[in-house]
Amino acid sequence: MDIEKIIKTAVLSQEAYAVEETLCRIKLDANENPYPLPPGLKRMISERLEAVPLNRYPAPGSPGLRRDFARYYGVDEDRVLIGNGSDELIHILLTAVSASPSGSVMFPIPTFAMYKIGALNTGHDIIEVPLDDRLGLDTDSMLGAIADNQPSLIFLSYPNNPTGGCFDRDDMEKILETSNGLVVIDEAYFNFSGKTFLHDLDRWNNLVILRTLSKVGLAALRLGILIGHPSLVHHLNKVRLPYNVNIFSQIIGSLFVEHSGEFLEITDRIISGRKWLFNELTAIEGIHPYPSDANFILFSCFMDKDDVYGRLIDRGVLVKNFTAPDILKNCMRVTVGTEEENREFVEALKAVM
Ligand SMILES: Cc1ncc(COP(=O)(O)O)c(C=O)c1O
Repeated sequence: MDIEKIIKTAVLSQEAYAVEETLCRIKLDANENPYPLPPGLKRMISERLEAVPLNRYPAPGSPGLRRDFARYYGVDEDRVLIGNGSDELIHILLTAVSASPSGSVMFPIPTFAMYKIGALNTGHDIIEVPLDDRLGLDTDSMLGAIADNQPSLIFLSYPNNPTGGCFDRDDMEKILETSNGLVVIDEAYFNFSGKTFLHDLDRWNNLVILRTLSKVGLAALRLGILIGHPSLVHHLNKVRLPYNVNIFSQIIGSLFVEHSGEFLEITDRIISGRKWLFNELTAIEGIHPYPSDANFILFSCFMDKDDVYGRLIDRGVLVKNFTAPDILKNCMRVTVGTEEENREFVEALKAVM
């Protein structure tokens, strides 16, 4: 059998999503929270996990978590869908919406890679609209593409990964207003931006919000939350695999809601770290950081950046390097680490430059 003959062309033409496996002492490449959980929370987690009935399937649809997050976000439970990370929720959306040959999934570029990968794997044609030179939305082009193609899904990462800033709210409202398809506002970095469309759900029935626990110290759980119109959630539930969220994540997710204040204490420290890093990067000759509302900073480098990237690795610091020949061609992205990690990164970068 010729396996390649039965695989979709869109899948054949892709590379698997590459996660950097370089082992470095200081890991600042994946927008994770660098701090381990406080011992009190860890203890509470292990106590709860002791009682887990491992011989049973977890509750399908995570009803407890759905209730908890509905309360947490102040919305009705029928607006909430829990996923195995927001990656899975993106995939569920892409699986549920109709494909159209003129382009059914639209997003600005550069942005989070999974929108494109997921769209191609689920058989969609994509419309990519480059950001303008201030890294904002090119709203006229996006509105033109909406009129021409009527995309079923538009993804807007808010703040945008990897550029770091939040798009202009008026631009986003125009897109919500004009689109007859779903507009997914991915608020993965909400805890660092404080900016949200959560309170606008009643204004637009095509508004979908994504949140995740991955950036606030619980990346290993794989827990994402979708908040949208009840009838959309109703249909998405048919696409969701029955036992998509394992029991450990369900239990710890509920604990997060109960103790969110303690889990989120760390965000202020990360925001202060971001300010410190930004100022330090601004002062390094040959480096230009872009303002960020997230837990990472994009910076361009006026030297051979692949060389700089390699030399940072030699010094034990891993950041994210970009290979695309677009607006990012001179850029790297650094995640805000602990105070010590930030200092070591800055020292290493100064030495390299
Ligand atoms: C914009 C954005 N959305 C979603 C995700 C993935 O979140 P999760 O870990 O919940 O799948 C990321 C991860 O980096 C991201 O940058």
